[in-house]
Amino acid sequence: MDRTHAIQQAAEDIRNARHTVALTGAGISAESGIPPFRGKGGVWERIDPMEFATIDAFLKNPAKVWQVLFLEMKQVLDRAHPNAAHEGLARLEQSGHLRTVITQNVDGLHQAAGNTDVIEFHGNFAWQRCQTCGQTQPSRELELAAMPPRCPCGGLWRPACVLFGELIPTTPLQRSQAITAACDVMLVIGTSAVVEPAASLPALARAAGAKIIEINPEPTPLTRRTSHYLIQGKAGEIVSRIADQCAG
Ligand code: OAD
Repeated sequence: MDRTHAIQQAAEDIRNARHTVALTGAGISAESGIPPFRGKGGVWERIDPMEFATIDAFLKNPAKVWQVLFLEMKQVLDRAHPNAAHEGLARLEQSGHLRTVITQNVDGLHQAAGNTDVIEFHGNFAWQRCQTCGQTQPSRELELAAMPPRCPCGGLWRPACVLFGELIPTTPLQRSQAITAACDVMLVIGTSAVVEPAASLPALARAAGAKIIEINPEPTPLTRRTSHYLIQGKAGEIVSRIADQCAG
């Protein structure tokens, strides 16, 4: 199936569906200037996640993790704006074709684009949480003069997102699984589908009878095995064209 035909097919599948859900990963934000984690130019090519992105690494040396990973993430995310793919998903919701976005991203760009039901599987970088007392505050208001930044209680501020070695909070996990089991189309956009438990959601949807449509410049472990078809290319152009065709 060529790309134009695959885009037409996706629009038709979505128009015929009662309940479409999107599962997104770092690739959907690549065109917003946020580098993905894996692949060429990915964050984990420069920074070893086992050394900088686990809860144990953070507790052992919080200043190092702040200086090498969190500060860079904060700078990149503070500047980022939704791209054509985020906007396309928001248009699909507005035209009544998409209900929920399940995202592994912590950048808040789906909400900024206008989607109203976004499950943040790995939390959100826009908030900081005290590791000791649990208090929260917006990342933008964080005082960064001293490293690591500390809460008035003396505890460590850390982004309100999931680090390796931490469990996915129960509410997003259970809600994602319930919505996945009930959808009849799942758009899987810009994820390498290697990090569990998010990587298993497409197989769960397929087992429940849903059509799985993948959008990615590269094949992934889902391609051919779990996905019904892959629309190969960048999310911005493809999601935008699907949203145009669903609106028309
Ligand atoms: P990855 O960085 O693993 O994968 C990004 C995917 O996006 C790859 O499959 C790319 O081919 C694809 N991609 C790149 N540019 C794209 C574009 N313009 N349009 C569409 N797709 C594009 O990101 P995730 O799968 O989201 O977890 O990674 C999953 C988790 O691993 C993250 O949530 C994070 C990370 O470690 C935690 O931090 C807990």
